[in-house]
Amino acid sequence: MQNTPDMKTIIEPFKIKTIEPLPLLTFDQRKAAIAKASYNLFNLRAENVTFDLLTDSGTGAMSARQWSGMMIGDESYAGSKSFHRLEKTVQDLTGYEFIVPTHQGRAAEFLLMKALVKPGQMVLGNTHFDTTRANIEMANGEAIDLPALSNQDSQNEDPFKGNVDLVALKNVLTEKSDQVAMIVMTLTNNSVGGQPVSMENLKQARSLAKEFSVPFFLDVARFAENAFFIQLREPAYKNTSVTQITKEMFSLADGAWMSSKKDAFVNIGGFLAMNDSSLAEEIRAQMVLTEGFPTYGGLAGRDLEALAIGLEEVLDEKYLTYRIRSVEYFGKGIEQSGLKVVKPFGGHAVYIDAGASLSHIPFYQFPAQSLSVAFYENLGIRSVEVGTVMLGRKNPETGEQEPAPKELVRLAMPRRVYTQSHVDYMIEGMTHLVKNISSLKGYEFEYEAPFLRHFSAKFKKL
Ligand code: F0G
Repeated sequence: MQNTPDMKTIIEPFKIKTIEPLPLLTFDQRKAAIAKASYNLFNLRAENVTFDLLTDSGTGAMSARQWSGMMIGDESYAGSKSFHRLEKTVQDLTGYEFIVPTHQGRAAEFLLMKALVKPGQMVLGNTHFDTTRANIEMANGEAIDLPALSNQDSQNEDPFKGNVDLVALKNVLTEKSDQVAMIVMTLTNNSVGGQPVSMENLKQARSLAKEFSVPFFLDVARFAENAFFIQLREPAYKNTSVTQITKEMFSLADGAWMSSKKDAFVNIGGFLAMNDSSLAEEIRAQMVLTEGFPTYGGLAGRDLEALAIGLEEVLDEKYLTYRIRSVEYFGKGIEQSGLKVVKPFGGHAVYIDAGASLSHIPFYQFPAQSLSVAFYENLGIRSVEVGTVMLGRKNPETGEQEPAPKELVRLAMPRRVYTQSHVDYMIEGMTHLVKNISSLKGYEFEYEAPFLRHFSAKFKKL
């Protein structure tokens, strides 16, 4: 054989050196565990979960290189060698001069919003992640989401559904740019399904930021996945390397922050990076109160080392090909099982439209909760409900439950953790489950907290 033909089978571009047993329970054991957890997946003990798809954050597998980096981590309180290594890596990656480590993404958000948002100011974006929104509100600002209109239809195949709506962005800036603290672009756009932002959209948003003299920042938890989608889907970048695309994305902004628990494969870590020296100075002075000295930022020296190595590894296009194709493979398999899924498939998760798939359960009986409990009872999968339980509001006057925009179940894929046969097993199980989908029952609350009720709610099966 002279040439390798185009192979259909996706292989993991790594081999396994350390293993962790997969908890395998019987149906009856799972039924008892979820009943004991009051049908709330957040209350399950992880040792009772076979496939934990709750999040892709902090759940990735580190490489042998990262683990060996941890052994040489420099634990000096100030001026650690590992900090300087991370600093150089992030400078080379992003082109920004001032690098501040933080213990995770939301700590970076807290510091940045505290420094840049004045009370009453708005922060505009393609869709802020929950913690970003909360940190903007904590600074007495207002978080405004302006996602691309193609998001309204879960079946719309727009390749860049993560984009910001440029018309809406321009309108807000034209009317009240003096009240805008900054523009934030989240790459990929997690809250709309891990959908990518195109370079063209970034450039246009950048030029609006310039025109109205508003700072422009990136939230880059999944920057490499976003860059790979640009190479894949934006014709002008077909022949540009992911490293080059990444540099161009960063070059458009004034700074960025990263929850490194995603694309850098670490179990904890984050950073802020920027070009403005006085902003960096202000943040470094502030962080001593909450994160620690600016050369460790709430992390151990070994964490800084693993983070620097992860940032290099994620740019490997063989890894990214495997990553994006395996999420797509999972999504297609779920779709073929008969469940309705959000299209196109994003970078880190597959979203199931439970409203459409379980149309016999009304929103006020939580169809997405019902499907996610069924996934656990039947297959040992832990997913997240992103529907009326998480996002629905109670009418303040009547007390009646109002629906969330969509009834979704998110299946997030940890990086380098589950193999293709794990995915095949889950798809096969879903195919069986779908045959009896009309027998799934709705739920009602037995207990609900006034805020963020999805974390602590207790349910009763109807
Ligand atoms: N920004 C984005 C886009 C995120 O997805 C997250 C976390 C954060 C910021 C906050 O970072 O967790 O390190 O403090 N997303 C996780 C998730 C929790 O499950 O999607 P953090």
